[in-house]
Amino acid sequence: MKLNIAVLPGDGIGPEVTKQSIKVLKAIAQEFDHTFRFKEAPVGAIAIDKTGESLPEKTLDLCKSTDAILFGAIGDPKYDNNPSAKVRPEQGLLKLRKELGLFANIRPVKAYNNLLSKSPLKREIIKGTDISIYRELTGGIYFGKKELSEDKNTASDLCEYSRFEIERITHLAFKAARTRKNKVTLVDKANVLESSRLWRRVVTEVSKNYTDVKLDFLFVDNAAMQMILNPKQFDVILTENMFGDIISDEASVIGGSIGLLASASVGEKYAMFEPIHGSYPQATNLGIANPIASILSAAMLLDHFELFEEAELIREGVEISLKLNITTPDLNTKYDHISTSKVGDFIEDFINNPKDTTMNFSNIHIGQSTII
Ligand code: IPM
Ligand code: MN
Repeated sequence: MKLNIAVLPGDGIGPEVTKQSIKVLKAIAQEFDHTFRFKEAPVGAIAIDKTGESLPEKTLDLCKSTDAILFGAIGDPKYDNNPSAKVRPEQGLLKLRKELGLFANIRPVKAYNNLLSKSPLKREIIKGTDISIYRELTGGIYFGKKELSEDKNTASDLCEYSRFEIERITHLAFKAARTRKNKVTLVDKANVLESSRLWRRVVTEVSKNYTDVKLDFLFVDNAAMQMILNPKQFDVILTENMFGDIISDEASVIGGSIGLLASASVGEKYAMFEPIHGSYPQATNLGIANPIASILSAAMLLDHFELFEEAELIREGVEISLKLNITTPDLNTKYDHISTSKVGDFIEDFINNPKDTTMNFSNIHIGQSTII
C-alpha cells in the first residue's frame, strides 16, 4: 500500500516521540512491502514562533493533501500562564480538528498485565480493563460561542449540539461495540444539561438499529467515580467533547502511565493519529518521554487502512517491550537509562526480526544486547 503521511511533531516532547513512531512505521513498510512517505510541517508554539500562527495555511494544506496525519503534542508554558495571549498553540489543534472534520476521537484504555503494579489503583480493580472511549471532537463547549463582557468581568462558553453531530459518532460507537463486548455507556449530565438530554434522546433512537448492543447511561460525575471503582464494567464509552477529555485523562491512570494512551481522530474524509498526552515541556530532549502512546497511535493509523496484521505486530512489539522492561523511566523500576529512542529501536528491531526470540534480552540494561 502507498500512503502519504503528514507528520506534525508540534511542541515539547512531540518531535522525539513522533520520531519513534516514524521509525516503527518505516520498519513496517520494509517488512510488508508498503511505501509510506512522510512530510513534516509545523504546528503549535513552534509554528507561532516561525509564522505567527499556530496552524499555518501550508500545514493545513499538507494535511488535506495526504492520506493520514501523525500528530505529536501541542502546548507551551509561556502561553498557559498568559490568559491574555492572542494566539495559543492549542488553537492550532482545535482548528485542525474542525477544518478536517475529525468528529470522532477514539481512545483505547487497557490494563497491561505487566504494568498492573504501576497504577496507583489496586491490581484486582484494574486487571482485565479494556475500554474504548468515543469522544465527540468537533462540537460542544469547545466550539460554542465564546463571550467576554466589555468590563471583562463576565464570560461564557456555549455548549451546543445538533442531532446530526450526535448521530454520526453514535453509529461509530455502536459499530465498535459490535466488535467488542456489545455494550455502550453514554456519559452525560442529563439531570442538568439540555444538551445532554438531546444526547440521550438521539442515542436511544440510534440504538434501536443495534438491538444486539446494550446501551446504558451514566452521569459524568458518577462515571468519574465508577472509572476508579470498577473500570471493568465499561466496554465502549460514548460521550461529548469536554466530558471525553476529562474522563480519558482519568482513565489513563489505569494503564499506569499517560504515556501509553494512543488515539485516532477520524472524520468522513481525513484521519489523524496522536497520543493523548500533552507536550510535557519539562521533559523535552531529555530522552525520558515515553514513545509508546505515539507508537500505538501509529498502529491505529495502520488499523484505519485495514493493515491489521501490521498493526498487530506493532502492538506485539509494545507488549514485549513492556514485558522485558524496555521502557522509559515513567514505567521502569528495573533498568536505568532506557531512553525514548531506545524504546523505539527495540520495537523497530522486533518488527524486523519478529521470530527471533533468541536475542540476548538479559543484557539489555547494560547495552550489550544485540537489540539496543
Ligand atoms: C486532548 C488535549 C486537547 C483537548 C487540548 C490540547 C486542546 O487535552 O487532546 O485531550 O482538550 O482536546
Ligand atoms: Mn485532554
